[in-house]
Amino acid sequence: RPAPLIDPFQRAITYLRLSVTDRCDFRCAYCMAEDMQFLPKRDLLTLEELDRLCGVFVDRGVRKLRITGGEPLVRRDIMQLFRRLSRHLKSGALDELTLTTNGSQLARFAPELADLGVRRINVSLDTLDAQKFKAITRRGDLAVVLAGIEAAQKAGIKVKINAVALKGVNEDEIAPMLVWAHERAMDMTLIEVMPLGEIDGDRTDQFLPLSVARERLAERFTLTPLPDRTGGPARYVRVEETGGRLGFITPLTHNFCESCNRVRLTCTGKLYMCLGQEDAADLRAALRASPDDALVTRAVVEAISRKPKGHDFVIERARPAAVPRHMSVTGG
Ligand code: GTP
Ligand code: 5AD
Ligand code: SF4
Repeated sequence: RPAPLIDPFQRAITYLRLSVTDRCDFRCAYCMAEDMQFLPKRDLLTLEELDRLCGVFVDRGVRKLRITGGEPLVRRDIMQLFRRLSRHLKSGALDELTLTTNGSQLARFAPELADLGVRRINVSLDTLDAQKFKAITRRGDLAVVLAGIEAAQKAGIKVKINAVALKGVNEDEIAPMLVWAHERAMDMTLIEVMPLGEIDGDRTDQFLPLSVARERLAERFTLTPLPDRTGGPARYVRVEETGGRLGFITPLTHNFCESCNRVRLTCTGKLYMCLGQEDAADLRAALRASPDDALVTRAVVEAISRKPKGHDFVIERARPAAVPRHMSVTGG
């Protein structure tokens, strides 16, 4: 077998996040500007090209593939890509094919995703209050997302809820959402808001350190740290009162870069070595230069050889976003 991808800090790259579109049917205030300029469709790689790129990574030892966006399920014919990628599950080359979604299209796609071998998905949901949901997402409809989650569970897919913790917005809902999720056999992960993309303000007003949220939860619940990781950045606890798991993704208060195992590929073929850095390798030219994968493989290996040690996110009054690129370009 070809050599696995190892970066300069001896981290093995076994997790690829593929953003299949920068578009989304929501406009979450911390993620996007109200008037986003999306990429012209002609700049997108085709689904066949995205599949070919994924194949190169799978050949080189990637075991976990997560499809993101934007909202991945708004990309036209997206099920064709899942269908192609599912062959790596059947062959045993991939351990997991999954996605992170806002849930708006799940009712339609859940049965097919389940059929194709998607076992577990992450659904972004920051509130259970319909009006607040509208305020955060600007366009979303909570009832549609809740129906999507139900459809996924009915199809036999395990759902995890991802909530960005926002000071003064949903901090009072963290405990009730946790109970709600655990009652429905869903794990939940809290995420610290990150300074990505130019939006209104510097996020100091939004930023809720998860150390604070955790202390508050600990007054009400018994949180037992768990050693197991899912291959992602979250650290988990078991909530003894509910029996469910709660994850913390803490880029600001507890950097987890030393165990980073992932890179990100965008829908235009740019490979970002870190969510919090601007450096990217453009794989499109290599991809289109030849039907043989040797050039792409070389470009990937070269890119991984310059993966940075980590991000340097800081949230401070009047400080511009660490990275001007919006989260929707690289999909979190
Ligand atoms: P699991 O397989 O459930 O562990 O998923 P995951 O946490 O890897 O994926 P998910 O898409 O649910 O990621 C949740 C959020 O974590 C993302 O939207 C990002 O905001 C954040 N995240 C994931 N990877 C990184 C990373 O490498 N660096 C930083 N700073 N944040 C990350
Ligand atoms: N900081 C943290 N998380 C973010 N997400 C989007 N923008 C940000 C941000 N600035 C989250 C979404 C979703 C995931 C893909 O990324 O809520 O859960
Ligand atoms: Fe869309 Fe997700 Fe960004 Fe919200 S956070 S606008 S759902 S990509």
